[in-house]
Amino acid sequence: MTHAAAETSSRYRPSAADLATASPMIEIRDLVTHYGKREILHGINIEVRQGEIMVIMGGSGSGKSTLLNALLGLLRPTSGSIRILGQDLNAITDIERTKLRQKMGVAFQGGALFSSLNVLENIMLPLKEHTRLDRNTMRIMARMKMQVVSLAGFENLMPAELSGGMIKRAALARAIVMDPRILFCDEPSAGLDPVVSSAIDDLILTLREAMDMSIVVVTHELESAFKIADRICVLDKGHILTIGTVDEVRHSPNEHIQNLLNRRAEPEILDPDEYLRWLTAVNQ
Ligand SMILES: Nc1ncnc2c1ncn2[C@@H]1O[C@H](COP(=O)(O)OP(=O)(O)OP(=O)(O)O)[C@@H](O)[C@H]1O
Ligand SMILES: [Mg+2]
Repeated sequence: MTHAAAETSSRYRPSAADLATASPMIEIRDLVTHYGKREILHGINIEVRQGEIMVIMGGSGSGKSTLLNALLGLLRPTSGSIRILGQDLNAITDIERTKLRQKMGVAFQGGALFSSLNVLENIMLPLKEHTRLDRNTMRIMARMKMQVVSLAGFENLMPAELSGGMIKRAALARAIVMDPRILFCDEPSAGLDPVVSSAIDDLILTLREAMDMSIVVVTHELESAFKIADRICVLDKGHILTIGTVDEVRHSPNEHIQNLLNRRAEPEILDPDEYLRWLTAVNQ
């Protein structure tokens, strides 16, 4: 057992039985999306429960960001449905969608901090945009979230003065400043050294524990996925290869999953029908 795994075992983790009875926060049914004429996601079904950390894994181009964009309402599905907190993204009005968005926090991959604003102002932005709180209250709320992510004392730094790990922390603080019900993190530990990356994983576990959020994490960092996930969804070329607990995925007999986990190259198959035959023929 690695040090990281030993650390994790003492953390709060909802049981499979708890999760099975928790309310669904995100329900994705038969989701198909296109970019132009090209079908990218080919009928995806995922449910994320209250308090669950769902990790989306998959190789480059497998459709992770496309899925995230669809969940954020930035990409309209061709067919299928996405319900978030019980509301169908396609059936609601723009005003309802804006209200729903306020219950969803997003930590973008590169941080997406505004370079002309200091850290505190960056973290205050969602409050400025969506609330009528006075400036002092907004500052207090932003400072509280900075404490949660261990950035207290760095309020006046500009984004260019932050390390990679601090940028990720600031992005997380901004994502949770409105106390969202659901947090989306795109590659929260990519590009960080192992120690900093492990600290970000711990922070994600702490956030779930402290704020009882559902968290969707997109990552290709295997160790991170195994450490934080309740369930892992493995995407490959727009299909779901499997959704399961860390143990189920880790010990999956499916050759494609093992190739992905072990970063073994697979033959490049460009014809979608041939690919589907190949996918379903071997080792299912
Ligand atoms: N804006 C776009 N227009 C057209 N095609 C796109 C666009 N964005 C992504 N794609 C295509 O959709 C497929 C899925 O891309 P996506 O960005 O969702 O993959 P990903 O799993 O996030 O990959 P990565 O790990 O590299 O970020 C890829 O084949 C990609 O070329
Ligand atoms: Mg991506």
